[in-house]
Amino acid sequence: MRGKFITLEGMDGAGKSTHIPTIIAALQAKGLHVVSTREPGGTALGESLRDLLLHQSMHAETEALLMFAARREHIAQVIAPALASGAYVVSDRFSDASFAYQSGGRGVPAVKIEQLEAWVHADLQPDLTILFDVPVEVSVARLAGARSPDKFEQQDTAFFTRIRNAYLQRAEASPGRFRVINGNQPIEKVEQALMQIIASL
Ligand code: TYD
Repeated sequence: MRGKFITLEGMDGAGKSTHIPTIIAALQAKGLHVVSTREPGGTALGESLRDLLLHQSMHAETEALLMFAARREHIAQVIAPALASGAYVVSDRFSDASFAYQSGGRGVPAVKIEQLEAWVHADLQPDLTILFDVPVEVSVARLAGARSPDKFEQQDTAFFTRIRNAYLQRAEASPGRFRVINGNQPIEKVEQALMQIIASL
């Protein structure tokens, strides 16, 4: 009995965080046991690494390595045991974010992220990835109103454009795994789209 692994992705400001409680409630309403978690983070060590990753400047490859170090711990302590117990694991970000941010955004060659992915989770991929997509101007405008922005949220439009493109390319390359949601519409519309996806699980 293996549960299902669902990941949520998108640029900062795409609306992912707004909709996570709705997604979890809809899964629970189906009688599923849901484990909700996030990256970087999800474990005590991972949350310490998150603090460094979001606030301290570092070489782009150091950033990629620390993301995957946090991920290794997250899989060992949280994701793998939960899936083995039959739970639905909902993670706010996973490795697609490393392809989008560290490779697309920061320019680390994608092949290096692929190597880390093969090392850290060769036999684990999300069953479903929901990508919240909005035009870059929308994301940047939403972030402008945000409380104290972290290291990533302070980046410029060009950075977010590369991230959006990297995400969309990954969605196009794995259409069976990805569902792309237009995050630039009223909250109720986004919720409707999410409910359809969850009903089809
Ligand atoms: P985010 O998920 O947006 O949380 P919050 O809503 O609290 O701001 O923040 C995590 C940040 O980490 C986000 O800017 C993307 C970045 N990130 C990477 O750059 N690479 C990764 O592999 C992951 C998981 C996240």
